[in-house]
Amino acid sequence: MTKPVILTGLRANNNLTIGNYFGAIEPIVRMARDKSVDYQINMFIPDLHSFTTPIDHGELYEQTLNNARVYAAAGLPLDNNDIHLYRQSFVPAHSEMTWILDCFTGIGEMGRMTQFKDKSSNAQDDRVSVGLFNYPVLMASDILLYDATYVPVGDDQTQHLEFTRDIAERINQQFDQNIFTVPLATKEQLAFFDAEHGLRIMDLADPTKKMSKSTESDRGVVFLTDSAEDAHKKIMSATTDNLASVAYDTTNQPGISNLLEILSQVRNQPLGTTLLEFQGMERYGDFKRIVADEVAAFLTQFQAQLAFVDGSAVESKLLKSEAAMRDQAGKTLYRLQAAAGLRK
Ligand code: TYM
Repeated sequence: MTKPVILTGLRANNNLTIGNYFGAIEPIVRMARDKSVDYQINMFIPDLHSFTTPIDHGELYEQTLNNARVYAAAGLPLDNNDIHLYRQSFVPAHSEMTWILDCFTGIGEMGRMTQFKDKSSNAQDDRVSVGLFNYPVLMASDILLYDATYVPVGDDQTQHLEFTRDIAERINQQFDQNIFTVPLATKEQLAFFDAEHGLRIMDLADPTKKMSKSTESDRGVVFLTDSAEDAHKKIMSATTDNLASVAYDTTNQPGISNLLEILSQVRNQPLGTTLLEFQGMERYGDFKRIVADEVAAFLTQFQAQLAFVDGSAVESKLLKSEAAMRDQAGKTLYRLQAAAGLRK
């Protein structure tokens, strides 16, 4: 019997941040450790997604392997046949399915994607790649090829997940067959992962913006590779407000609310519990120091785990999973090719 699939991926365009960690890595690794008896776990590196905006291609291959090591350091078990770790470009069905789905996707639909609008707004038309425009279609293929039901992502990816549901339903209807498994809607995803809301860790220097690995200035971004001292400094100089009372109010106190969110993630406790402890605290310096200390301790521990990861075990796991995934993805692609009249 096939097991329901939980799947997620993180682009390898730069070092990963604590936003990536708590938004996507932590939830799937938790499932991989607790639930791999009942679920298939797919954790992959969307390397083809990494250059929708310009990157240093000389670093991509190593960055990709590094991300795989990060997943292992976060606790992804490598010795379990129901847990798969793979690179997108090593499974050609991702690109092939994208082409077919492209032909069933509207230009208007892609143009409305918030991430596309944000990332293309400052660039000249010819510098905005077609890849950036249609990358939600590649993301849909990533998910649909494996019949994934559960997809842990941060809040910024929910629109892409909704598009994945739309295109899956559209294709199933058009060909009047169950070609694709439709992933669950965002609300049900959150309930499955026991999350109160879609996670969006904000930039420390400008807490009205998402913390992002591709932000130009890294003053407000805590990378998993930051030294404990650097991360501490970044948090101590986080932008706050002058209301002098800790509260969770993302409109009027976005900086303090973000620090509360970060602390509750690092502690792995509900936001309400963290809030109860700090609500009304007047000295922001003291509050920041607590957050900074706990984030620094988290990074120190994570980096120690990373140093212990066996790189060759990760590389053999990649090769083994990639062979298995070419098989699995190939079957789904075939269903679509047959429906589209390309195969009999
Ligand atoms: P990417 O690489 O931008 O981000 C990887 C994951 O990290 C989450 N994330 C955050 N969560 C909370 N707070 C933040 N500040 C924050 N920043 C990033 C993202 O929501 C994401 O879950 N298109 C995807 C990668 C992808 C994918 C997929 C994901 C490709 N195919 C299939 C799931 C399934 C992306 O660019 O994520």
